[in-house]
Amino acid sequence: MAAKRRSKIWDVDRNEATPESIYLNRRRFLKSVGAIGGAVAINGLGCKPAEEAKEDPTESPAPTNEIPPKQPKEIDLPKTPTSDLYPAKRTEAFSLDRPLTDEVVAATHNNFYEFTTAKDRVWELVSSLKIRPWTVDVAGLVNKPQRFDVDDLIRKMPLEERLYRFRCVETWAMAVPWTGFPLRELIKLVDPKSNAKYIRFTSFNRPDEVTTQRFGSFRWPYYEGLSMKEANNDLAMLVTGIYGHELPTQHGAPIRLIVPWKYGFKSIKSIERIEFVENQPGTFWNDLQPLEYSFHANVEPTVPHPRWSQADEWLIPDRSDSRPTQLYNGYEKQVAKLYG
Ligand code: MTE
Repeated sequence: MAAKRRSKIWDVDRNEATPESIYLNRRRFLKSVGAIGGAVAINGLGCKPAEEAKEDPTESPAPTNEIPPKQPKEIDLPKTPTSDLYPAKRTEAFSLDRPLTDEVVAATHNNFYEFTTAKDRVWELVSSLKIRPWTVDVAGLVNKPQRFDVDDLIRKMPLEERLYRFRCVETWAMAVPWTGFPLRELIKLVDPKSNAKYIRFTSFNRPDEVTTQRFGSFRWPYYEGLSMKEANNDLAMLVTGIYGHELPTQHGAPIRLIVPWKYGFKSIKSIERIEFVENQPGTFWNDLQPLEYSFHANVEPTVPHPRWSQADEWLIPDRSDSRPTQLYNGYEKQVAKLYG
């Protein structure tokens, strides 16, 4: 289904028909799920496959007047100063072994813990985050540190579209057309010093805009890291678009990382700071759950998560559409050399 620029955020089937009291009640429920999910994660139940989540007795039961998730008919997109750059030319070398995921399916099944732990609710909650103006600081062990206005950066970079597989640590997978530029193009621009061995990425912490960031369960902002070798690999992208247009906020607007050979939690969204450092930096999930989420977090079918197998994956939205997980998510040829 195509995305459209529209004045209203989402065109929703059932909203008009929903009595306001029920709607407000559901909103409150969403808030409590966010808070409970956060507390649960810290106690050892962070990212997890959905079926496990459903069986988890520590999760709050739905109120009796709960209604099923709303389904948007189409995706609303921000008009940005760089809208004219999409669609970018597709690089045909990145082909897929599976169909592309439907755009609305991908945009309504998201992990974005700053807003909620409920994947099917993220899209409803993200509009409070102001994605323009937006700056990205690139700093640390570089000869040319810079603060970029995100649109200046996007305009400066060689945008291209690539079809990538995407594999979440929770076993769901998708295949989407990302638009962006190789991370190494940004690395060149800031000229790293010889002792820069790692890159640390930091997302936003804006409790005034994203009120769920006020709750104490997680310590924001979300942060991630790569070695310089990984960051310079051709597959590592900074992504600003999807399906031939800008990223909607739930996918990490205005700029996010995509490292398709790693579990999805490495692909940090809505980046504000990129810092070159000498030592391996901490990462959000590894610091919370070191025994469950490693720094490298490469997709490896023979290495189970301590609480579930990684041998198979399933394609959203159909849990029965299951297939074997591929080493490095099928990108062995491109990345195995990094870990030899
Ligand atoms: N980035 C931020 N800032 N916050 C998050 O909660 N979740 C990660 C990753 N990046 C996350 C994030 C996880 S667990 C996954 S699987 C992917 O985003 C999901 O990306 P998608 O919603 O675009 O599919």
